[in-house]
Amino acid sequence: MADTDDIREGNRFGLDTPASTEGFYLKGLNNTDWGLKNRLSRIFNQKSGRTVMLAFDHGFLMGPTSGLERIDINIDPLAEYADCLMGCRGMIRANISPTCSKPVCMRTDTGTTILTQMNDNVLVSEDEVIRMNVSAMAAMLSVGEKETEALTIANFSALVDRGMKLGIPVMGVTAVGKDMARDARYFGMASRVCAENGASIVKTYYTEGFEKVVAATPVPVVIAGGKKLPELEALELCRKAIDCGAAGVDMGRNVFQSEAPVAMIQAVAGVVHDGLSPEEGFQKFNDLKAQG
Ligand code: 5RP
Repeated sequence: MADTDDIREGNRFGLDTPASTEGFYLKGLNNTDWGLKNRLSRIFNQKSGRTVMLAFDHGFLMGPTSGLERIDINIDPLAEYADCLMGCRGMIRANISPTCSKPVCMRTDTGTTILTQMNDNVLVSEDEVIRMNVSAMAAMLSVGEKETEALTIANFSALVDRGMKLGIPVMGVTAVGKDMARDARYFGMASRVCAENGASIVKTYYTEGFEKVVAATPVPVVIAGGKKLPELEALELCRKAIDCGAAGVDMGRNVFQSEAPVAMIQAVAGVVHDGLSPEEGFQKFNDLKAQG
């Protein structure tokens, strides 16, 4: 039974301090639930409002691609420098310690590889998402491909329904049909379709006119890095995206295929969070690389 003696009258009501009505620090998400915001607050740095997500989900489509042969050796040492780990359940379970406190954005659509029809995918179960204690779920939304557009949008919408029920944000991973220009018009459209369907984060590719993609997508936009570039060019890509209003990166190959991945992820973080220019980021990369 609760103690009934020594019950003290409250006197710290802060009568001079009105309750805060401040909005949430990430765009477009002020009207979402507490749990969803709390999870997003683990992913996005609260000072910079940005994130460096480390993407290593590529294997579910393409097998052990360069840099991902051994997640325990290649990815685990990078985890401490990332704001969020983005991967598939099997790799996370097998290779990342459960004591790792970094938030996980789990890839939740699966079903096809690069060898067959892409994106003909189904969703991982809700129970599994809870067991993996994820902070976000990711699924592809592909526009412009007759065979997969409707399926990926239906998948995506179903995933957002699950996410809203559980308070788990969903990240839309945009794709455009293979015959479509990879430009601001189509990536902008795919990004907007993700947001229209309830995405809390949109991941897309940097293109010319990216500021319009960001402006028309009312939730945080992060960029994928794409194919491996020389380190300075990858840092320039990050800078340009941030300057256009991106809320960070979800980067894979340009980190784990770098000649010095631990140095590269810290250089990327310098550009994303600390306002470094690409040249300053490259200097940081070289300094860290030289230190080993
Ligand atoms: C593929 C993905 C990848 O995670 C994405 O492409 C990011 O990796 P990279 O920076 O290597 O492009 O979602 O569907």
